[in-house]
Amino acid sequence: MRILLTGGAGYIGSHTTLTLLEHGHDVVVVDDLLNSKRAAVERVESLSGRTVPLHVFDLRDETRLDQLFARERFDAVIHCAGLKAVGDSVARPLDYYGNNLDSTFAVLAAMARHDVRRLVFSSSATVYGENAPLPCQEDHRPLSATSPYGQTKVMIEQVLTDVASARDGLRVALLRYFNPVGAHPSGRIGEDPQGVPNNLMPVIARVAVGRLDRLQVFGADYPTADGTGERDYIHVMDVAMGHLRALEHLDAMVQPARAFNLGTGTATSVLQLLAAFERACGHPLPYDVVPRRPGDVPANWADPARAQQELGWRATRGIDEMCADTWRWQSQNPSGYPER
Ligand code: NAD
Ligand code: UFG
Repeated sequence: MRILLTGGAGYIGSHTTLTLLEHGHDVVVVDDLLNSKRAAVERVESLSGRTVPLHVFDLRDETRLDQLFARERFDAVIHCAGLKAVGDSVARPLDYYGNNLDSTFAVLAAMARHDVRRLVFSSSATVYGENAPLPCQEDHRPLSATSPYGQTKVMIEQVLTDVASARDGLRVALLRYFNPVGAHPSGRIGEDPQGVPNNLMPVIARVAVGRLDRLQVFGADYPTADGTGERDYIHVMDVAMGHLRALEHLDAMVQPARAFNLGTGTATSVLQLLAAFERACGHPLPYDVVPRRPGDVPANWADPARAQQELGWRATRGIDEMCADTWRWQSQNPSGYPER
């Protein structure tokens, strides 16, 4: 298939692009590079030996998007582009609602004009909010997120479901990622957050490489095995493979839109992840326990059964592999991707 991958220079988009190329698909990327670097796409090209056209513009530029669709005749769209920082979204809600919703509307309008009927969307476990029973199951209602960022995912899932119901032949997979971490095993592409990272794995990786002094563990008094927060960390290469499987499944889907959890089904605590990373990098990592971070839930993990049964997909990589691959990427690229 010829696939438009929005946000393809970003963390999940770059790994997904590589996986799609390795399975014989053609990929064209649109990314405004606000949270990513051109080098990510160049490295995907060098790893795959394939060319990846990168078009640098904001998806909300409907004229450019329309011209691209007219030229390329896409078979499918994978829509990863979006703003994703939870705390930032609380401070700048309008930017998040504006960017994430309007870019999705632009993609949907172009797909309708050019009769493209396959869409895979990057949703998030954040749609389960604070009160969903564990493990999280796709049919849980009501969906409700605790941040403007999360609300954009809830709203977009609803928009996509309604549009797919109304438009004959449109099929949409809503992929709810749990906590993607890790990097391609080559160490050539990985997660390169701009500014100070908020998420646990990039913080640990920067402590390990000496860019940050210590990890702050946000709370050790949760009702979990060791008192620290538990999450369902999933290797980004497994996430990438989830996109391929979803894409292959779209034409067989009975319902116009369907949600799938992409998680492992197991939870790992902050201190367990830290210990695994110490094994990977070979030295102890300093940390302090500090108060809980507002808005954090004690534990969260997926029921991945639907993706197993319907997509024939399951996560195959464990915590040690996630840490080893993150460490390879971080130690080979201590400052992330080069500027240019
Ligand atoms: P990322 O920031 O690395 O990649 C997103 C890319 O989209 C960036 O390169 C950014 O520049 C681009 N972009 C944003 N708005 C754009 C626009 N209007 N036009 C063109 N390009 C635009 O993020 P990621 O971690 O790769 O996440 C990809 C998707 O997955 C996002 O939608 C995110 O919300 C979702 N998600 C991520 C996680 C995670 O922990 N990484 C978890 C759940 C869901
Ligand atoms: N944590 C620390 N110290 C840190 C950072 C995180 O102790 O410096 C802890 C958190 O308290 C939590 C765990 O590590 O217990 C994981 O936190 P992350 O910030 O890595 O991930 P979250 O589960 O909070 O959120 C992530 C994404 C969201 C997404 C959600 C579910 O940031 O966008 O996963 O997919 F919605």
